[in-house]
Amino acid sequence: MSFATGHWPWWLLFSCGMISVAGNEVCPKKCTCRLLEVICSGLMEYPLDMPMTTRQLVLKGNNITFLPAVNLGLLNDLVYLDCTFNQITEIMDFTFIGVYKLIYLDLSFNNISHISPYGFSMLHNLVILNISNNPHLTEIDKYTFANNTALRHLDLSNTALEFLDAQTIHHLFNLKTLHLEGNPWHCDCLLVDLAVYLIVTNIDYPDDLNTTCKDPAEMAGWPLTMAGNPLRYRCLTHLDRQDYAFLFLIGFCIFFGGTVAAWLTGVCAVLCENIHRKAEDEELDEEKKDDRPKRTQIFKSSHKNFDAMNHHFV
Ligand SMILES: *[C@@H]1O[C@H](CO)[C@@H](O)[C@H](O)[C@H]1NC(C)=O
Ligand SMILES: *[C@@H]1O[C@H](CO)[C@@H](O)[C@H](O)[C@H]1NC(C)=O
Ligand SMILES: *[C@@H]1O[C@H](CO)[C@@H](O)[C@H](O)[C@H]1NC(C)=O
Ligand SMILES: *[C@@H]1O[C@H](CO)[C@@H](O)[C@H](O)[C@H]1NC(C)=O
Ligand SMILES: *[C@@H]1O[C@H](CO)[C@@H](O)[C@H](O)[C@H]1NC(C)=O
Repeated sequence: MSFATGHWPWWLLFSCGMISVAGNEVCPKKCTCRLLEVICSGLMEYPLDMPMTTRQLVLKGNNITFLPAVNLGLLNDLVYLDCTFNQITEIMDFTFIGVYKLIYLDLSFNNISHISPYGFSMLHNLVILNISNNPHLTEIDKYTFANNTALRHLDLSNTALEFLDAQTIHHLFNLKTLHLEGNPWHCDCLLVDLAVYLIVTNIDYPDDLNTTCKDPAEMAGWPLTMAGNPLRYRCLTHLDRQDYAFLFLIGFCIFFGGTVAAWLTGVCAVLCENIHRKAEDEELDEEKKDDRPKRTQIFKSSHKNFDAMNHHFV
């Protein structure tokens, strides 16, 4: 995204760098160059005259604060970069844009506090990435490793990470080891996806007993790799006082509604029954009124017949 907007086009930076550095194959000051390996010490900043054929670059234990994408990008064949024990503060959009063959990248023991989600996006071949011991790193965007599907070892230990989205790592099918120890994990319901993921994958978590929750208080000291089930229990089935109030209200409404409905049904039934009975009674009454004269007639006629019979016999 930000490759194109708001920043210099990287190819322009790249070609400027090319003009200023191309052709210079001598070993930089304070560095020793052996075959395709360069080792530097006592530097305050990245040397601008690095041999372009460098495959392995060790900048361990300098005071470098900034990795210039332009100059680093000239090392097209770089596969191994060790920047451990420096003062690097930030990984920007194109810090590693030119060194796309990188397999090993060690950024441990720096002062990185921000990593752009595009910082590693060109490192499709990266197998080992070490970001451990950056005490001000509080956050890693969930797309940071989107393109690093070759990763086998990822070290995020001893940083200030309290949270990591499970999506950050769940597509890394080659991942064998994941270091998460020494971070102040905040084991609330946001972390339930990661905690459950740690249970179901077969990635190794070395030092997993030191990978513990820092807060909330009731989870403090729980190993993160075992927090999945308690967290799932707390977050998926745990009910607050509000929830109980709500459930009680719902229950009461259903009970009340049911009672009213039953009462109304009862009233209706009684009313209908009454109306029905009245109608029947009226019908009966009418029938009775109609019947009485007929019966007397029958009686009378039978009486007449009886008289006639008597008369006949007499
Ligand atoms: C790095 O800086 C520290 C002070 O911040 C200094 O003591 C140390 O000598 C420096 N190291 C190098 C290699 O320049
Ligand atoms: C590291 O970075 C933080 C800010 O992110 C800063 O406050 C601190 O002084 C830095 N430490 C060193 C040793 O440069
Ligand atoms: C992954 O790499 C492709 C091609 O190299 C690039 O277009 C894309 O933006 C990268 N994705 C991320 C999330 O950086
Ligand atoms: C990362 O760096 C630290 C310190 O340099 C080291 O102890 C650790 O083993 C490294 N992790 C990996 C996966 O190489
Ligand atoms: C946890 O880390 C400390 C050092 O930070 C170490 O001494 C201890 O042995 C580790 N515990 C486990 C269980 O690995």
